[in-house]
Amino acid sequence: MSAVKITEGIYSVGIQNPNMRVFDIVMKTDSGTTYNSYVVKGSEKTALIETCHEGFFHQYLENIKEVCPLEEIDYIIMNHNEPDHSGSIAKLLELMPKAKIIASQAGSLYLKNITNRCDLDVQKVKDGETLDLGGRVLTFFFAPNLHWPDSMFTWVEDAKTLFTCDFLGCHYCEPYTFDTNIAYPKAYDAALKLYYGAIFGPFASFVRKGLEKIKALPVQPEFICTSHGPVLTKAGRMDEVIANYEAWSAPVVHEVPVIPVFYTSAYGNTAKLAEKIREGILEAKPNAECVTYDIIEHDMDKLHALINECDAFAVGSPTLNRDAVPPVWNLLAGIDAINAAKKPALVFGSFGWTGEAVGNIQTRLLGLKMNVFEDGFKVTFVPNEEDLENAKEFGKSFALSF
Ligand code: FEO
Repeated sequence: MSAVKITEGIYSVGIQNPNMRVFDIVMKTDSGTTYNSYVVKGSEKTALIETCHEGFFHQYLENIKEVCPLEEIDYIIMNHNEPDHSGSIAKLLELMPKAKIIASQAGSLYLKNITNRCDLDVQKVKDGETLDLGGRVLTFFFAPNLHWPDSMFTWVEDAKTLFTCDFLGCHYCEPYTFDTNIAYPKAYDAALKLYYGAIFGPFASFVRKGLEKIKALPVQPEFICTSHGPVLTKAGRMDEVIANYEAWSAPVVHEVPVIPVFYTSAYGNTAKLAEKIREGILEAKPNAECVTYDIIEHDMDKLHALINECDAFAVGSPTLNRDAVPPVWNLLAGIDAINAAKKPALVFGSFGWTGEAVGNIQTRLLGLKMNVFEDGFKVTFVPNEEDLENAKEFGKSFALSF
């Protein structure tokens, strides 16, 4: 796809990658993605905002050249420096000899390591600092953790255009630039939500601050130029996307404590412990929402959401080959490590010989800085009546501990 005019003096020169199906190893991208990049022209200077994944370098250059000779680029503004946006920087600098890179302090450090050039000359800007392109002033607003600590927004007030890089974007690709032409809106909605959860779910408080910064702009944007997915327009999906981000980032308030009991069980023994632990939890906290979940019987995305939103949880696994079983590790792999600290957790399981599962899970949860309850609860093979009563008491003590 070639360059597209956004508004006077601002052009989209990014790349489409409709064939991508997995982003950053873990994220499904059923609708592909785009690496958006923009040229912003003033009367005296020209800026390039973000670059693109290096795998598309040739097409990217052709797009830029449609609106501006490469050697006329004065600034490369890096709102965020993950390699999907910064991957072309080193090559670009060879073709844009006078271009000055602009980034936040954190961004400047990342760029030096990403390009492996400790002498890389980066102009570090402060929050609120401006840059005059001639009749067009850019203002930089820091937006930390949207999506890395380096992130900032670039605001072009005369054009009512805001550049937010990852923020408010999504992995979605259609042969259109603007959100007014989305051909498969349901697919876009799904991609937007998936992207939010994967990229910004762990940073809800920063999302709220980012939204406040947009609301505090002296005039509201007509265009929000993200670096993935369609350009958001006031006439299109902008307000809806912002409302979605507001709703998804709102603090979760539970009317009753939510304490799920996750488990998996080869012969029903760990399942019996799960039920007794649940009874114990409910004895201590009768109003709690405490449900047992056999991990292999439920959608893993939903379990991941639950383990992150709950107030505390118990997790049980049998021991197989001296370890917990893969479904349990898959569940734990979905824990939001940014926000897991101090969450109470209880670990349990039945085993045959050596019973490493409980200890291994505890080690993992302690690594996430969670409040792991005592040494966990283990039973050899089939729990007898006394074991079951002890499991119940253990669950009760756990629930009384927070
Ligand atoms: Fe699209 Fe955080 O990079």
